[in-house]
Amino acid sequence: MVYSTMGRNDYENSMIVAIDGPAGSGKSTTSRRVADRLGFLYLDTGAMYRAATLAVLSDSANLKDDEGIGASAESMEIDFDRSGCRIFLNGLDVSRDIRSQEVTDAVSTVSAFAIVRERMVDLQRKIAGNRDAVVEGRDIGTVVFPNANCKFFIVADVTERAKRRKKDLAELGIELTVEQIVEDLKRRDKLDSSRPISPLQRADDAVEIDTTDMTMDEQVDLIVTNVRERLDRKEMKKSSD
Ligand code: DC
Repeated sequence: MVYSTMGRNDYENSMIVAIDGPAGSGKSTTSRRVADRLGFLYLDTGAMYRAATLAVLSDSANLKDDEGIGASAESMEIDFDRSGCRIFLNGLDVSRDIRSQEVTDAVSTVSAFAIVRERMVDLQRKIAGNRDAVVEGRDIGTVVFPNANCKFFIVADVTERAKRRKKDLAELGIELTVEQIVEDLKRRDKLDSSRPISPLQRADDAVEIDTTDMTMDEQVDLIVTNVRERLDRKEMKKSSD
């Protein structure tokens, strides 16, 4: 596989769909299904920050200690399976462990460290650069792929987001109340939006979608239609050049 080493590719022969938004906005399911419909690679960058957090926690490094976090970030190996749904940390499948409460509590802190972000952004560009990919996260349209062909920013009312997350967590055997999840989402929204490096924010050229009253099928259809229109325009431009 040929990896791009730049922060963006020229998108002559590939297409990046950036999907950003706060926790629980429905990004993951939407992005996975959009990637599936389009036959694109799916990259869940939140899972990468969660795996990095797990690495830091298992190294028992002090969460506030730059050196400890730097050492963990330098040495960790993160991989995905072909579907992009299973994630491996140093060769071990940690897809379930990264959803634990311990990781969720620490992930916003760990992902605010510059050394962690540098390593993750580099890896994200290597995995998705020069490929047709749907990449979801917080800073994809602003920092990781600022020249992405299509950018979406997904938002939803916080109580609705908590209800959705409760369902996802229940499937993993984790039972929390909607109130507990609302508190956690608000805390993470605040940390993710206020950090100095790559805060969660909508790119100027992103299409904002409020999914509060939308079904998953509607969200997926809206994005797929939008991406297909861009693909058609790109093809037309190519053939007229
Ligand atoms: O999408 P998620 O809730 O699984 O993401 C977990 C955390 O990872 C989120 O609270 C902030 C961080 N994150 C980030 O800082 N940048 C990204 N591109 C993706 C996630």
